[in-house]
Amino acid sequence: MNKKINKIQRGLVGKITVPGDKSISHRSVMLAALGDSPVKIENFLKAADTLSTVGVMRELGAKIEFSADNILTVKGNGLCGLKEPQNTLDAGNSGTTLRLLMGLLAGANISANFIGDASLSKRPMKRITDPLALMGAKIETTDGKLPIKILKTDKRLKGIEYKMPVASAQLKSALLLAGLFAEGETKIIEPNISRDHTERMLAAFGAKITRENNGVTIKSAEKLSAPENIFVPGDISSAAYFIVAALIIPGSDLIIENIGVNPTRTGIIDILKEMGANIALENTRVICGEEIADIHIKYGELKGVNIGREIMGRLIDEIPIIAVAAAFAKGETKISGAEELRVKETDRIKAVATSFNKFAEGMITETDDGMIIKGGLDLNYATADSFDDHRMAMSLAILGAAANGTEIINAECVNISYPEFYATLYELNNRRTI
Ligand code: S3P
Repeated sequence: MNKKINKIQRGLVGKITVPGDKSISHRSVMLAALGDSPVKIENFLKAADTLSTVGVMRELGAKIEFSADNILTVKGNGLCGLKEPQNTLDAGNSGTTLRLLMGLLAGANISANFIGDASLSKRPMKRITDPLALMGAKIETTDGKLPIKILKTDKRLKGIEYKMPVASAQLKSALLLAGLFAEGETKIIEPNISRDHTERMLAAFGAKITRENNGVTIKSAEKLSAPENIFVPGDISSAAYFIVAALIIPGSDLIIENIGVNPTRTGIIDILKEMGANIALENTRVICGEEIADIHIKYGELKGVNIGREIMGRLIDEIPIIAVAAAFAKGETKISGAEELRVKETDRIKAVATSFNKFAEGMITETDDGMIIKGGLDLNYATADSFDDHRMAMSLAILGAAANGTEIINAECVNISYPEFYATLYELNNRRTI
C-alpha cells in the first residue's frame, strides 16, 4: 500500500497518548508465561511484532486471553512448564521474539523450529547461537540465519561469563533468559549500555539478578513469582515521531502522556535537548519498576550535533527520526558508531540515505557506520520507499508532513509497532482546539 501524507499547515497542539512499549510488551508475555499464577497486562501493545510473541507463547503452552485490545491475561505453567511445540514457531518480522525465545528455549531445554519473514531471515543470529553454544546448547542453522532448530540435550546449560561483541539488548536478554535455567551464574558484560527492561522485569519476578557497571549477573532460579499486574508504559520509540514533529512544525505545543522514560531509552531526549529542543518531562513517576512521564514539547529552532557510539544503545531505534530533526536543524549532524543500523529490519543507513535524498539531493551522505545530514535544505514533495521498515515509514511521514508532503511506498508496515500511527497523525492535523 502507498500512503499520501499532506503538508501540515499549523502546529500540533494538545495531548495525545501512544501505544504501549514494544520491548516491555514482549517481555511481559514471555515472563508471565513462566509464572504459575495469572498476570493481567495492561496497555499492552497489540501490533504485529508483539502478536508474534503471543502466538509463539501459546504454542509453548501459555494460556493467553485478551479482554480488550490492549489488556490480556497470561497464565503459565511455572518455570519448567513450557511444552514442546507441535508446530514451527513463526517470529514474523520480530527480532525480539526470535532472539529472546532462542535463549529461553535453549535454557528450558525444549526442541523447537523457528522461522520468520523475509527480513528476519536475513538478519544475523550467530551473535545468539555462538554464546548459547558455549553454554552447551545444541542449535542447527545455516550461516547463522533462519531457519533455526533448537535441539533438546541430555545436559543442563552451564553458566558462562560472556563479553558481548555488540551492544544489543536482544542478545543480553537471550543470555539472561538462558541463564535463568543454567547451572551456576551467568555474567554478561556489555560494551555500552542497552535497554534494561529484561533485568528490571526479571527482578520484579523474583529472579536473582544484579548489575555492576557494565556487567549483569543472573543465578539459576527454581521458580518465578509473577506479579498480579503489569502496566506497560507508552513507547518512547513511538512517541519519538510526534516529539520530532512538534519540534519542527511551527506553532506546536504538544504533551504526550504516560511515556516510559527509563534512562536506557531516553538518548533521543538528551540528543534533541543538545540540539536546542524545548522538551520537558513532567509528572515523572515509577510504575511497575519503570520510570514514566508526560513529555511536553514546543516548537523551536534546532542546531546540528555529533552523535557517537557511547549513546547509540540508548537511541538506536530513533536514528531515522533523529535524521528528520537534523534535516530541519541549522548546520550538519554527524552520526557515527551506528553500524548496527545495517542489520535492522532493513539496512537503515542505506534506506535513510536513499529515501531522504528524494526530498533534497545531497541531504544525507552515507558512511560505513552512520551518516552526515545537511540541515536546512529546501525540501520537495517526494515519493519515497519505506523498504518495508516501520521506523522508516513513520519517519518519512513526519518528514513529508513538515516539508511539502510525501507519498510513502510500502506504508502499511507501521502495523509492526504502531497500527494507529496514521490515524493519530491525521487527527492531530485536523485538531482545532486543545
Ligand atoms: C530491542 C533491542 C534492540 C532494538 C529493538 C528492540 C529489544 O535491538 O533495536 O527494536 O526489545 O530488546 P538490538 O538488541 O539488536 O540492538
